[in-house]
Amino acid sequence: MTRISQTDTDSRHVHRSDYQSCSVAFIDCKKPGSHLKQNYSIIGPGVTTSSEQVINLPEPHGFNVGAAAMPTGITNNLHIHYTAEVFMVYDGEYTFRWGPNGENEVTGRAGDILSIPTWIFRGFTNIGEGEGWIFTCLGGDNTGGVIFHPDIIREGADYGLYISKDNVLIDTTKGDPTPTEDECILPMTDEEVAELRVYSPEEMIQRVVKANERDYRPAFLDRALEGCGAQISPVIGYGISQNRDHTAKIRNPHGFSMEWLKLMPGQKISPFTLDDKMVVIAREGGIRISMNEECDVSTDLGAWDTFSIPTDVVRQIENTTDEPVEALIIVSGDHQKHPKFLDQIVKRAYAEGLGLDAQGYVAKAHLIQKYGKGDTK
Ligand SMILES: [Fe+2]
Repeated sequence: MTRISQTDTDSRHVHRSDYQSCSVAFIDCKKPGSHLKQNYSIIGPGVTTSSEQVINLPEPHGFNVGAAAMPTGITNNLHIHYTAEVFMVYDGEYTFRWGPNGENEVTGRAGDILSIPTWIFRGFTNIGEGEGWIFTCLGGDNTGGVIFHPDIIREGADYGLYISKDNVLIDTTKGDPTPTEDECILPMTDEEVAELRVYSPEEMIQRVVKANERDYRPAFLDRALEGCGAQISPVIGYGISQNRDHTAKIRNPHGFSMEWLKLMPGQKISPFTLDDKMVVIAREGGIRISMNEECDVSTDLGAWDTFSIPTDVVRQIENTTDEPVEALIIVSGDHQKHPKFLDQIVKRAYAEGLGLDAQGYVAKAHLIQKYGKGDTK
């Protein structure tokens, strides 16, 4: 177990007020309307092509958390990513489009999560009232950059904007020399666009987890202990849930897992460690995360705050309010994650008749054998 100080804890808590937008992040930033887009890079090296983008916590996590917001009617233009791109709508209503010219559409509302496959053009438009807010999560530390739609690259050139081969925005209106064809990313040809993968609306809907589709179930070994019983609803991959009946709707490799956590008033997850970096994005405020075996360090997450927990540090997560609260839990890696509860929690759970089976899922303790072969612990 690794101890963490209050200072280090505070430095990993990115408050909503700390998010810093950049409106010159991409090649479409001078396209009429698109200059009103606000891009945020919160965790990880990010995908911005601008040196002006502030990243709150640039430490590599195996994924990148960012956000986007824009006024009603404004569009985020069609582009391709090489790694998974997940949109977590926290506020507002957006039309997400995909396909060679964005001809397919699905609506995302507050609480919905969409995972857009790699290698297809995607974009979105704010169709709600107000700016809305979408958190984004991209797989990998190195996301490989962005390919914009050929029309956007051509239009960018009209405004003096190019993207270099190493994914840096070149702005000739700010004195950058006009690049040669060898130095910048050229528009994809019509043939290349025609060869991109095809996703039907029926296939895409399998990659959308709507707010009303959440499959909340008690998730942890401590479920029978007083004040516990936290629920998880899987969204992407294999996460920290210890409920063997949990299966995420979206299961292809993303490089991270994503789950909704729900805590009822006063409820908590008992202290546990994890071998992988874990990020919490609060939906509502009032989530207290206490660190170390003694829970002697803590921080209180406000709504939409982001908090990164290092590996091997003990953490307890509790709802300090008298309303249910939800948060997204994102953990690095595509494997099943194995929370390790403190010994006294394991003993108390056992006394309540619960243990973990050899797969790491909660089971009736009296049915779990003391079969020690191959046990390296
Ligand atoms: Fe994107």
